[in-house]
Amino acid sequence: TSPLVVAIDGPSGSGKSSTSRGVAGRLGLAYLDTGAMYRAMTWALLQQGVALDDPGAVAAAADAVTLVSGTDPLDPTIHVGGVDVAEPIRSDEVTGSVSLVAAVPHVRELLVARQREVIAGSDGIVVEGRDIGSVVAPDAKVKIYLVADPAARAARRAAENGGADAAATEQALAARDRIDSTRAASPLVQSEGAVVVDGTHLTLDEVIDAIVRIVDAAP
Ligand code: C5P
Repeated sequence: TSPLVVAIDGPSGSGKSSTSRGVAGRLGLAYLDTGAMYRAMTWALLQQGVALDDPGAVAAAADAVTLVSGTDPLDPTIHVGGVDVAEPIRSDEVTGSVSLVAAVPHVRELLVARQREVIAGSDGIVVEGRDIGSVVAPDAKVKIYLVADPAARAARRAAENGGADAAATEQALAARDRIDSTRAASPLVQSEGAVVVDGTHLTLDEVIDAIVRIVDAAP
């Protein structure tokens, strides 16, 4: 039988990572951060000096990149060719160019195949991203589309980044969402059967509670 999959999709800064890790911890499930995989691929290609605005060059270089994702919600690790990249994949440089890399269909083929292997090898897993309910795990038992007002998302992200300018952060999030939602290859969409959870006026614990209740109530 296939493992329990909880798919959590949504735009940047909606609180997907903290929420997904919390849900996995509460339910004793594994956790996969697919955004970290696109970020790690971007980091690797930047290291190699690949021109990220050249989809052909990105696709050609992507095959040789080996990613390993840990699935412990308390300690989600990510390695590229044996190097721990958990920190550098959060840099402004990677954040500013990851959407270009993620729009390349061959990159998505490679990473979606890895993601499905991780899911199939688990005993139940919370998977967060942009295309989990629509493409990676369309048969997921529970699909959540996590949203929050743009201003709330920007405030949260600016606070995480040590008090960065909220207006500039809101613009950067909007730019990334625009690319992620309008690309041809598996754009960010609210997939069929997804339950919308709006975290704008909820605490992290309240969002986690709401999703745990949805999982418990699933047939
Ligand atoms: O979730 P996070 O903000 O770390 O994701 C970084 C980027 O990776 C997103 O802006 C998007 O371009 C890409 N991504 C994606 N599909 C996923 C997860 C992330 O295209 N399933």
